Amino acid sequence: MHWKRAILLFTFFGVCASQASAEKVAWGPCDLKDQPPLPVECGSLAVPLDYSDPGSDKLDLQLLKVPALRTPKKGSILFNFGGPGVGVRDVLAERGELLHGLTGGYYDLIGEDPRGTVDTLTASCFKNATDRAAAMTAAGLSVIATPEDAMALGRQWAGAGLLADSCFASEYMKENGTLISTAYAARDLMQVVDAVEEDGLLRYWGFSYGTVLGATVAAMFPDRVDKLILDAVMNPHEYYNDYDKQVWADADKVFSSVMDQCIKTPERCVLARKNTTAADLEKATYTLLDNLKREPISAQGVIVDHSLVKSFIRACLYRPEYYPNLAVGLDALFSGNATGFLANLAQQGGGEEAAGGVADEAVYAIPCSEKRTGKEALSDVVPDLGQLAQESKLIGDVGSSVALVCTRWQIEAKERYEGTFDVKTRNPVLVIGNTYDSATPLVSAKNISASFEGSVVLEHGGWGHGTLAHGSACTSRVVRDYWMNGTLPQPGSVCEPDYPPFNQGSLQQVLENIGFIGKD
Ligand SMILES: *[C@@H]1O[C@H](CO)[C@@H](O)[C@H](O)[C@H]1NC(C)=O
Ligand SMILES: *[C@@H]1O[C@H](CO)[C@@H](O)[C@H](O)[C@H]1NC(C)=O
Ligand SMILES: *[C@@H]1O[C@H](CO)[C@@H](O)[C@H](O)[C@H]1NC(C)=O
Ligand SMILES: *[C@@H]1O[C@H](CO)[C@@H](O)[C@H](O)[C@H]1NC(C)=O
Ligand SMILES: *[C@@H]1O[C@H](CO)[C@@H](O)[C@H](O)[C@H]1NC(C)=O
Ligand SMILES: *[C@@H]1O[C@H](CO)[C@@H](O)[C@H](O)[C@H]1NC(C)=O
Repeated sequence: MHWKRAILLFTFFGVCASQASAEKVAWGPCDLKDQPPLPVECGSLAVPLDYSDPGSDKLDLQLLKVPALRTPKKGSILFNFGGPGVGVRDVLAERGELLHGLTGGYYDLIGEDPRGTVDTLTASCFKNATDRAAAMTAAGLSVIATPEDAMALGRQWAGAGLLADSCFASEYMKENGTLISTAYAARDLMQVVDAVEEDGLLRYWGFSYGTVLGATVAAMFPDRVDKLILDAVMNPHEYYNDYDKQVWADADKVFSSVMDQCIKTPERCVLARKNTTAADLEKATYTLLDNLKREPISAQGVIVDHSLVKSFIRACLYRPEYYPNLAVGLDALFSGNATGFLANLAQQGGGEEAAGGVADEAVYAIPCSEKRTGKEALSDVVPDLGQLAQESKLIGDVGSSVALVCTRWQIEAKERYEGTFDVKTRNPVLVIGNTYDSATPLVSAKNISASFEGSVVLEHGGWGHGTLAHGSACTSRVVRDYWMNGTLPQPGSVCEPDYPPFNQGSLQQVLENIGFIGKD
């Protein structure tokens, strides 16, 4: 039934999209807190709120543009930096210079906050922050439950039910919770393409969850793909039909390699000053996590437990620039110094994320409205949670809260992409996977490339999440070549980063060195 519905919608919109009259964006000044490195413009675009309803109200998409630096302009590139549940405009404004360097400077760079995020149809189950905080405390989802701990798991399952029930009962979700799916976000991207372009073709660079959106838009509109990069691939088959297990596939390997790099870079890694090996550090970390399960430590009104430390490690692995702080935090914990750990957590990057501060429920509302696993009872999910924990012994069970909340979610997207990812796009897609990405493994890049005809995988030999995390002149050249000339790398290409992960290099510096940015 759902299958039929999806096909019908697909055909209907296929016709509609080509007839739609281009709705122009009126660009004007932006209202940003911080001054971005390059000038930006903002605008909005009215699109159908509900694509399945021909008489639908309009929704104003919020857009930000970093205009092309050079002429003649080659068109626009759209972005999504990840999520689901995260906006695009702020990140684009901040990264405009880097991204112009990487794309050649002839494109307008455009970001649009996806439905459900920031100010666009904000996915909120609560009236205000007080209500949210109370509900989240009651749900207790920040406590990670491992499958062998039946009591903790039962509580998390019940907490997931509380949150799902609150959302189901909320005004917002009743009215708008069915309208924030990736398929609708993909249609929004094409509306932007229609509004800003002359050739009607899509140019898009997606990272992490942005690769689910990218794979979806490419599969829905294969004839309209000009250039598209999937960078840090999340397996879209799992995103729609299973729990996200493969995302953790490389996490343990990445942690081992980070400890190895720590030993090789003692001047930047406090843990390396202790006459220990990488294997010792790894072992000590697993022992620490195990001990914290039984005996959490506390300081300054905070319980430093297994869940908090796992979330901290997970957040730190996202970017090499956090690695020295990861070492400081672990160093404090190895000596039982919760105060030292918390002091580090407060000042360092990744801390906020580890502490779990969220402003809305988009992180659940978007994926849960379109994830269909066929599982309904706790006993159905337990084997999957076991697999999550197996994918990564270190942080795999961090994924259990989304898995449980999605299992109990009661709101279905009006449109969910149910088609195939076996597609031939008008022009070939470039797929990139990092060798050491703890959040999206190389195997997922190979998975999507296998079904996108003509696509090529570039292996970026860097650390962190996505190519922007670790600078490589080689990767930068491949990417710029693709945007400028549509050139793909040879299959099997590997690009090494320009500096080891604990060193103080940056992508910015790499791009300056090779003349892609700065010094006009
Ligand atoms: C939050 O919303 C609730 C109603 O859900 C209301 O009772 C409460 O006063 C609000 N709190 C604040 C701080 O606005
Ligand atoms: C649903 O979205 C529309 C359009 O953005 C908005 O005007 C409305 O307030 C939302 N409904 C609720 C209950 O939040
Ligand atoms: C470091 O480890 C080696 C081998 O275990 C040992 O011989 C040496 O004494 C240690 N050095 C210090 C300073 O602890
Ligand atoms: C714990 O760490 C803090 C901050 O680094 C430091 O000031 C303090 O001396 C440490 N306490 C102990 C007992 O080592
Ligand atoms: C891609 O991943 C999905 C889900 O894990 C799997 O079912 C499928 O067989 C994989 N495809 C390829 C080509 O590896
Ligand atoms: C693109 O092709 C042009 C001419 O064919 C060449 O000069 C240039 O080096 C290529 N650009 C990039 C970024 O590789």
